[in-house]
Amino acid sequence: MTNILYGNLVAKKLKDKMALDIESFVEKGYRRPNLTVIIVGDDPASHVYVNGKRKACEEIGIDSNVIAFAAQVDQGELLDTIEQLNQDPQVDGILVQLPLPKTIDEKKVIQTIDPSKDVDGLHPLNVGKLYSDEDGFVPCTPLGIMHLLHEMNCDISGKRAVVIGRSRLVGSPVARLLQNENATVTICHSKTENLQTICKQADILVVAMGVPKMITHEYIKDGAFVIDVGIHRLEDGLCGDVNFDDVKDHVSAITPVPKGVGPMTICMLLENTLKSYKERVLK
Ligand code: GUN
Repeated sequence: MTNILYGNLVAKKLKDKMALDIESFVEKGYRRPNLTVIIVGDDPASHVYVNGKRKACEEIGIDSNVIAFAAQVDQGELLDTIEQLNQDPQVDGILVQLPLPKTIDEKKVIQTIDPSKDVDGLHPLNVGKLYSDEDGFVPCTPLGIMHLLHEMNCDISGKRAVVIGRSRLVGSPVARLLQNENATVTICHSKTENLQTICKQADILVVAMGVPKMITHEYIKDGAFVIDVGIHRLEDGLCGDVNFDDVKDHVSAITPVPKGVGPMTICMLLENTLKSYKERVLK
């Protein structure tokens, strides 16, 4: 029997719990948590994502601000804004929506965010903490993936995990989290030879490659846990990097697209914001 890992249901449970926690803090006289999102330019997909983040904050009682800049914004102005948010005691989380226009130095922008407000987990200090197994902020999609695996009682220790994709936001950090839980991890990418043979050995397969429906049952070990991070809009609707219908009868568990990893990513952003708030306000 295949388990479908519905991230939206897991996320709902976690969000309900966070909403109760936040109300109890407010009743005790504390301010609400605050997440501030910066978006540059008019990429429609980025605006949809940012709107989703804003709405999720609203649902559970986190205050959110969105600061929008035109694509031609001066980098100095952007950095000044981040510095002001770093100093603002009312702001718990700062997220700069990526990608940024080519004229802006993305690394410099990320390095300007105060690591204690870096709810995306992209600042080098937080990346370093992840790689030294210290407590810090971890990027939201990898956190959500680990939550789903735990929720499904997936045995991670000693198992073979294959991650397709090596990005800063997903592939690299999720590989590290799996390794921190004693999986034997292989990272594959666009240059990997014999991808199918490698995937076929995976007890846990995380797919973040960006090619619609690329992973068929020929890539799957019988009984694997499959996490599909891709999301694509085709003529017949949304799909992931995994060919769900072709794969589903060969696996123990699989995330659908939509309603799989996506809702967990937003939920982990809320968790990270709350973590920052608790360290700032309740300590
Ligand atoms: N663009 C797509 N996903 C993300 C994310 O998780 N964080 C940021 N900052 N930008 C993104």
